[in-house]
Amino acid sequence: MNFMACAVSGSDESRHGMRFVYKEVPMTKIVVLVSGGGTNLQAIMDKMDSGAITNAEIVAVISNKADAYALERAKNKGIAAECISPKSFASRAEFNEALLAGVNKYEPDLIVLAGYLVILPACLIQAYPQKILNIHPSLIPSFCGDGFYGLHVHEAVLARGNKVTGATVHFVDEGTDTGPILMQKAVAVKCGDTPEVLQRRVMEEAEWEILPAAINAIANDKVTWQDGKAFITE
Ligand code: GRF
Repeated sequence: MNFMACAVSGSDESRHGMRFVYKEVPMTKIVVLVSGGGTNLQAIMDKMDSGAITNAEIVAVISNKADAYALERAKNKGIAAECISPKSFASRAEFNEALLAGVNKYEPDLIVLAGYLVILPACLIQAYPQKILNIHPSLIPSFCGDGFYGLHVHEAVLARGNKVTGATVHFVDEGTDTGPILMQKAVAVKCGDTPEVLQRRVMEEAEWEILPAAINAIANDKVTWQDGKAFITE
């Protein structure tokens, strides 16, 4: 449990004459799923350290790849880190069950896909409605869906000649990149960009900002829903 101090009337008086009530706000427990380098994971951990994300903790990082550097980043922070790989199971169904059990074990309030390149099993999505977030490196609904991952997204943006791209944080439903959008940020495409240069700019200017901001909003109860759409309130 975490305790948040809120200035209100009718409660204990502090030394400075202000009145505070200590409201119990449960800490949001997060499991992060990764496949690669983990720069988004790092951005989340850094913003937790700096206080830009409050009321949340990462309880585990799970990768489908044993050599994902993201696992090292988690271990360096003393966070539980494990690999659950489809290759270790005889069938996809067995992997799906193991992933669900592996996530359930940590009893998360929120699951964050931070560069997770495995299609999530339906059983996991159904077990955590409106509790799974994904970061996608384009402005959805452009350049998303099947085949749009990693550098392919930025290649397609450059091939089309777009002048603006960006990133999107969305909740996960059973489609590919079709779930409710929570946050987006635009990023300029510049003359002479390569996919790698553009990917880096999208990460620095958008992904590493909006994924932590979205987590902070959820952890501090600032997300409201209207007609199936998610909004962040101040
Ligand atoms: C990011 O571009 C993210 O948008 C996409 O996968 C990449 C992950 O990078 N889903 P990292 O592992 O966080 O460095």
